[in-house]
Amino acid sequence: MADMKKLGAVGSTTLTAALAAVLLNCQVASAETLAQVKVPSGVELFREHCAQCHGADGTGDGPMAKILTVHPANLTMIEKNNGGTFPAERIAEIIRYGGNIQGHGEQQMPIWGKVFSLEGGSGKRGGAYSRRSVIELKSYIESIQQK
Ligand code: HEC
Repeated sequence: MADMKKLGAVGSTTLTAALAAVLLNCQVASAETLAQVKVPSGVELFREHCAQCHGADGTGDGPMAKILTVHPANLTMIEKNNGGTFPAERIAEIIRYGGNIQGHGEQQMPIWGKVFSLEGGSGKRGGAYSRRSVIELKSYIESIQQK
């Protein structure tokens, strides 16, 4: 009986320590979120993750283009194809979730929201990293539109 009590005491100390560690982790994560997680610039993200399909200049002729069954979109024509307005929200959604695009649905284009979350780390930090990366990329794509 005495042994059981002892065990119980040890158990709850461990539990308290674990709980404290979890709380501390949360605090660190939210402090980082407030300070805004640092991400590479839009052009750097684009070169690293998008250029192999969409081409270094975004026109859709990256080295992977030849082996894809769906040709990567010319990302410099989005504004022109949309009557002269850049559809910022739609583009952010496509980057984040893959959109309802055949090429994306077939996994020819990865769902970047998820990829960036994993790159940014677990929990809140990954979420913030992903949001910021999508914003940077969307702004970069907006900056390369043909007028
Ligand atoms: C593995 C190849 C591949 C990679 C890597 C890739 N894409 Fe794509 N993407 C495609 C294909 C293919 C399409 C066209 C799908 C279609 O037309 O059905 C497309 C379409 C798009 C569209 C839609 C364009 C429009 O006119 O509506 C956007 C926006 C886009 N990609 C952004 C990106 C961004 C940003 C990245 C990097 C984070 C990226 N893509 C990486 C293959 C890729």
